[in-house]
Amino acid sequence: MALLLLFLFPLSVAAVAEDAYIGVNIGTDLSNMPSPTQVVALLKSQQIRHVRLYDADRAMLLALANTGIRVTVSVPNNELLGIGQSNATAANWVARNVVAHVPATNITAIAIGSEVITSLPNAAPVLVSALQFIHSALVAANLDSQIKVSTPHSSAIILDSFPPSQAFFNHSWNSVLVPMFKFLQSTNSYLMLNVYPYYDYMQSNGVIPLDYALFRPLPPTKEAVDANTLLHYTNVFDALLDAAHYAMADLNFTNIPIVVMESGWPSKGDSSEPDATVDNANTYVSNLIRHVLNNTGTPKYPGVPVSTYIYELYNEDLRPGSVSEKNWGLFEPSGVPVYILHLTGSGPVLANDTTNQTYCVAKDGADRKLLQAALDWACGPGKVDCSPLLQGQPCYNPDTVEVHATYAFDTYYHQMGMAPGTCYFNGVAAVTTTDPSHGSCIFPGSGGKNGTFVNGTSLAPSSNVTASGATCHFSDAVTSPLVAGTLLLSVILFL
Ligand SMILES: *[C@@H]1O[C@H](CO)[C@@H](O)[C@H](O)[C@H]1NC(C)=O
Ligand SMILES: *[C@@H]1O[C@H](CO)[C@@H](O)[C@H](O)[C@H]1NC(C)=O
Ligand SMILES: *[C@@H]1O[C@H](CO)[C@@H](O)[C@H](O)[C@H]1NC(C)=O
Ligand SMILES: *[C@@H]1O[C@H](CO)[C@@H](O)[C@H](O)[C@H]1NC(C)=O
Ligand SMILES: *[C@@H]1O[C@H](CO)[C@@H](O)[C@H](O)[C@H]1NC(C)=O
Ligand SMILES: *[C@@H]1O[C@H](CO)[C@@H](O)[C@H](O)[C@H]1NC(C)=O
Ligand SMILES: *[C@@H]1O[C@H](CO)[C@@H](O)[C@H](O)[C@H]1NC(C)=O
Ligand SMILES: *[C@@H]1O[C@H](CO)[C@@H](O)[C@H](O)[C@H]1NC(C)=O
Ligand SMILES: *[C@@H]1O[C@H](CO)[C@@H](O)[C@H](O)[C@H]1NC(C)=O
Ligand SMILES: *[C@@H]1O[C@H](CO)[C@@H](O)[C@H](O)[C@H]1NC(C)=O
Repeated sequence: MALLLLFLFPLSVAAVAEDAYIGVNIGTDLSNMPSPTQVVALLKSQQIRHVRLYDADRAMLLALANTGIRVTVSVPNNELLGIGQSNATAANWVARNVVAHVPATNITAIAIGSEVITSLPNAAPVLVSALQFIHSALVAANLDSQIKVSTPHSSAIILDSFPPSQAFFNHSWNSVLVPMFKFLQSTNSYLMLNVYPYYDYMQSNGVIPLDYALFRPLPPTKEAVDANTLLHYTNVFDALLDAAHYAMADLNFTNIPIVVMESGWPSKGDSSEPDATVDNANTYVSNLIRHVLNNTGTPKYPGVPVSTYIYELYNEDLRPGSVSEKNWGLFEPSGVPVYILHLTGSGPVLANDTTNQTYCVAKDGADRKLLQAALDWACGPGKVDCSPLLQGQPCYNPDTVEVHATYAFDTYYHQMGMAPGTCYFNGVAAVTTTDPSHGSCIFPGSGGKNGTFVNGTSLAPSSNVTASGATCHFSDAVTSPLVAGTLLLSVILFL
């Protein structure tokens, strides 16, 4: 397989001729950060084989010893100036943080700084020296063939990223980027790139369709076509990767692989971030994992693997900034998943210790009229059997639009095999791991084995359903434009 790919795509180099992997970033800005032992227990139970640390924390590296987990350690931005200005400081850093831990801890890469050009431009002039100093310390320790050195960049350094064939790097930074690419090329390393379709989508003012950012199937007429290459782009992630390839080619570098160091989607946001939802996060991350593990590649380099680290393992409640900043995690600090990924058929990673027990419920505080419209749609065109909601039936009480909508949403979601995007209902529904069954009203999906997580945290089913008085009507007429929107979504999903 690998040889065939090399033959078909001579621009790809030997360094990428293996299957792509999924890794996970471990940020630690949490008020109750689990202990290194607990973190490693979670990684093992979730089959996470590759992680990136934002530093080289000794306790964490010790906990990762003899686990087989591959580790990328980082030089934090606040240590960059010292290392970039002094070969001896770099040698000390490598001795203390790398040589002391290998081979027990399988350190496979060192990420120097984080988005230095865009977030710490004052240090950019010493960035390449830092790469070189760290690398020469690895050479001296005879570790340079197994440990790659690179530096993660924001995709914001790429200008005009659509169409990808016209993308180029901000030339103001050529004095850093050209020697950096020469370094990556001569050491067989790779470009570390952070790829956030969420931000491109948010900043596009509606130009980028949500489906395009989320890897959802697009009708052919909505696919983006690069007029120069006639390549079809079905998602933002691939378009950004190819933009990076073309931008490197613009500087005459054509054989440097890319590893995506960060990508993800927030599961919660404030009122200005309406698309930071559990369902969107689940859809994006599930589709991303499938896309990466399938070695799908990009339109320019189909089949060339692009390993990717998900941002991030835990929700980081102490991160400053908007609500979404704190909600990029796959897990709560307890080890309970924020959402259950839909990964059927994509191998064991992140698929094992999660359960299939998810439910689709009406969102807290959702607009009553939207809920009613969605309920009507589910019980009508959605073909949900809503008879248990009728008076005298087990799910009639409590007779509120929220609880009845939850029953209908959950039934629809399970009828659809819990496929990504089937718990949406114009934004008034959300996936949860809490069983909404109550009394004798048993919801679809209920009754499976209890979810048990790493250290015994279990998802006890709850019978506590919020109720607030409203009456439920059933109507066969599909008149509301909101309902039409839901229909349209389903049509797109099942194209
Ligand atoms: C460390 O990781 C590298 C790269 O994945 C792998 O080739 C090597 O076998 C690993 N070493 C150990 C001791 O697991
Ligand atoms: C930097 O230090 C390494 C050892 O860590 C040594 O091999 C190399 O020659 C030094 N380079 C310079 C420019 O002093
Ligand atoms: C390119 O980088 C320079 C220096 O950081 C910055 O001032 C400029 O705004 C950037 N150009 C674009 C188009 O982003
Ligand atoms: C790339 O190579 C072409 C042809 O050799 C040359 O004309 C051009 O100046 C080079 N560009 C850069 C940025 O080095
Ligand atoms: C997997 O890759 C094949 C081509 O290698 C492609 O046709 C298919 O669409 C890909 N599937 C996903 C889910 O990306
Ligand atoms: C994960 O689940 C798959 C399928 O159930 C199973 O074959 C595999 O052994 C499991 N891995 C671990 C480490 O439990
Ligand atoms: C989850 O559901 C899928 C399909 O619905 C099934 O193939 C898979 O075995 C289930 N996994 C577990 C752990 O029950
Ligand atoms: C699920 O867990 C709860 C409490 O943790 C327990 O009472 C219940 O019997 C369990 N249900 C099943 C099906 O194992
Ligand atoms: C499980 O996690 C909780 C909270 O993180 C912790 O207090 C407890 O000690 C852990 N239990 C075990 C057995 O690790
Ligand atoms: C339901 O939850 C509310 C608030 O969380 C609480 O006040 C109430 O006692 C709970 N009811 C039951 C039956 O658990």
